[in-house]
Amino acid sequence: MESFEIFLAAQPGLEGALLAEVREAGFAEPVAVPGGVTLQGSWPDVWRANLVLRGAGRVLARIASFRAMHLAQLDKRARKVDWAAHLRPDLPVRVEATCRQSKIYHDRAARQRIERAIAETVGAPIAEGEDAPIRVMLRIEDDLAVISLDTSGEPLHRRGHKTFVGKAPMRETLAALFLREAGFDGTEPLVDPMCGSGTFVLEAAEVARGLLPGRSRSFAFETFGSFDPAAFAAMKAVAPRDTDLLFHGSDRDDGAIRGAVANAERAGVADLCRFTRAPVGALQRPDGPPGLVMVNPPYGERIGNRKLLFALYGSLGAVLKERFSGWRVGIVTSDGGLAKATGLPFGPAGPPVAHGGLTVKLWLTGPLG
Ligand SMILES: C[S@@+](CC[C@H](N)C(=O)[O-])C[C@H]1O[C@@H](n2cnc3c(N)ncnc32)[C@H](O)[C@@H]1O
Repeated sequence: MESFEIFLAAQPGLEGALLAEVREAGFAEPVAVPGGVTLQGSWPDVWRANLVLRGAGRVLARIASFRAMHLAQLDKRARKVDWAAHLRPDLPVRVEATCRQSKIYHDRAARQRIERAIAETVGAPIAEGEDAPIRVMLRIEDDLAVISLDTSGEPLHRRGHKTFVGKAPMRETLAALFLREAGFDGTEPLVDPMCGSGTFVLEAAEVARGLLPGRSRSFAFETFGSFDPAAFAAMKAVAPRDTDLLFHGSDRDDGAIRGAVANAERAGVADLCRFTRAPVGALQRPDGPPGLVMVNPPYGERIGNRKLLFALYGSLGAVLKERFSGWRVGIVTSDGGLAKATGLPFGPAGPPVAHGGLTVKLWLTGPLG
């Protein structure tokens, strides 16, 4: 079967976490690179990566690469790509091009060569806007042109369940990788005392039940000539696991709780989730074995006032120390000073990760004494 390079995008800072997930999912010889993970594979690997990986932001298939020193050469090589094997004449295609440190330096001129090759070989309409269902990317770096197909379509954090997003939601892909960094593997309960739309709780419950993150959505690759619907349906047919674990979310905001409940219902994990409207001071330890408290409290730059936030983080820390012995705690925040204000015994912070225009880090404790 035809093999090519597959690129799995990760939020910079979390490439190592994605690499661990990709390895665990059984993909052959993945390598972490800045901004993601690459591997060699074929179309079934592309489908499976989109379907099963919780941490990948999108999956690109690198369908051609060649040296191009000038536009005429790009033009000629672009026409040799077997576009008809991938694209359909009825689906609009958007082309994006970037040139770096190359003789071809004009992004727009380069893009037009690819657009023309597609229009003249497949006849697909070329679209300008964001909503074209199919995206082709050209990157020319050091005179090496690489052409990729975006096989995901809508970014993969849109799993198709979380229609309520709240005030400062965390992307599902980011939440999944932070959970992994915190050692969560679906075999312990989880509590998020500032759960907003419930992202951590939903991701955790889905992992525990063995649900595939891409089970409810469609993907761009389903329109490609290489797609085999029966083989993909077989990949999707995974029986859920039984679990006795419960996943708890609370938030002081009533709308957030209503939204989180609705999201859990859509995701098919409502029976594993318990959402309560409560301020952090009223947080109670769930019955049963200890697990992980995972929380993404507000931070000053986005909502609220930093002085009040010191008090909030302080009371979060006090409640956890008092009532959650044996539990581990993970806090995602942009502000190391606020993390320290919890008084919790964190190890060194994780790598900086871009989130919502800021840089956040994961602060993690061992089991509390
Ligand atoms: C950054 S958001 C969390 C977003 C969440 N991770 C998500 O993906 O939707 C912070 C949340 O903390 C909640 N919050 C703020 N102060 C609180 C308090 N004292 N007790 C409980 N929740 C609080 C807010 O209502 C908000 O939903």
